[in-house]
Amino acid sequence: MSSFEELYLHYRGLPLPRGTFSEDFKYFEEFNFKDDDILVVTYPKSGTTWMKEILTLVLNSGDLTLFQTIPCWLRVPHIEMKAMAKHMEQLASPRSLSTHFLYNMMPSSLHTSKAKVIYVMRNPKDILVSSYYFHQMANFLEDPGTLDEFMDKFLKGRVFYGKWTDHVKSWKCAELGDRIMFITYEEMIQDLPASVTRISNFLCHNLSEDAIPKIAEYCSFKSMKDNKMSNYSTLPKETMDHDKSPFMRKGIAGDWKIHLNSEQQTLFTSAIRKELEGQNFSLPWSLD
Ligand code: A3P
Repeated sequence: MSSFEELYLHYRGLPLPRGTFSEDFKYFEEFNFKDDDILVVTYPKSGTTWMKEILTLVLNSGDLTLFQTIPCWLRVPHIEMKAMAKHMEQLASPRSLSTHFLYNMMPSSLHTSKAKVIYVMRNPKDILVSSYYFHQMANFLEDPGTLDEFMDKFLKGRVFYGKWTDHVKSWKCAELGDRIMFITYEEMIQDLPASVTRISNFLCHNLSEDAIPKIAEYCSFKSMKDNKMSNYSTLPKETMDHDKSPFMRKGIAGDWKIHLNSEQQTLFTSAIRKELEGQNFSLPWSLD
């Protein structure tokens, strides 16, 4: 079994898997945002893929061509991954982009452009559980060990992309005015058509009455689980082993309730509260 140091490189304090990153971040640092770019921002396991699919269909007014023919990670590439550079150069405008990086790591062109940002937040207890299973199936990540062991690493930020609290703090305080929209995974679970409408309004992209339910249907958990362009099943088993745990695993809010015992819940909640002490924003859900 490989150690944390062998599996991860560090870039500006964030552990990143060597299996998907090179040490060269020049392309990212010099990345030029365009005014009509849209950037999906998430901490891993918050609903990144879900938002990528919604965004594609909103921008294409419900047309399925790209959605059904190009894998989501190429349609909405991660700007921090050098391997995505050539795909980004081929994207037609308006470009859909994504990142798991912190706000203060963004290239300066984000600030000078009028690019829009959609930030998806998810209850950290569900992120913990989702990430625990993801670490079992993604072979470029460290074996998670027991849930107790993984929780300890998660709270210390010894996981890919570091601490959840650092991510949320950085983007919640982003100085982007009305160029940033916050939405939660739970809100999307509760009412997907309403969420699609909110997103299209934010992007000033009018959708027909018929397009909204169609997009919600194609972006339902069941439909995405069956779509090879969304479910990562085209990647080799050496990268993601869906027999260990499917990428499209459960797709619910509150799965933590059957995974965390009361001791784990208390420990997790108090650690997150402590990290967020003194912040001038509130979370959209209760941590209890
Ligand atoms: P679970 O492991 O809890 O099922 P990311 O894309 O940021 O890695 O997030 C993956 C999580 O989002 C997984 O959570 C996955 O099942 C969930 N997800 C993806 N598409 C979804 C959808 N259409 N509806 C609900 N959850 C979805």
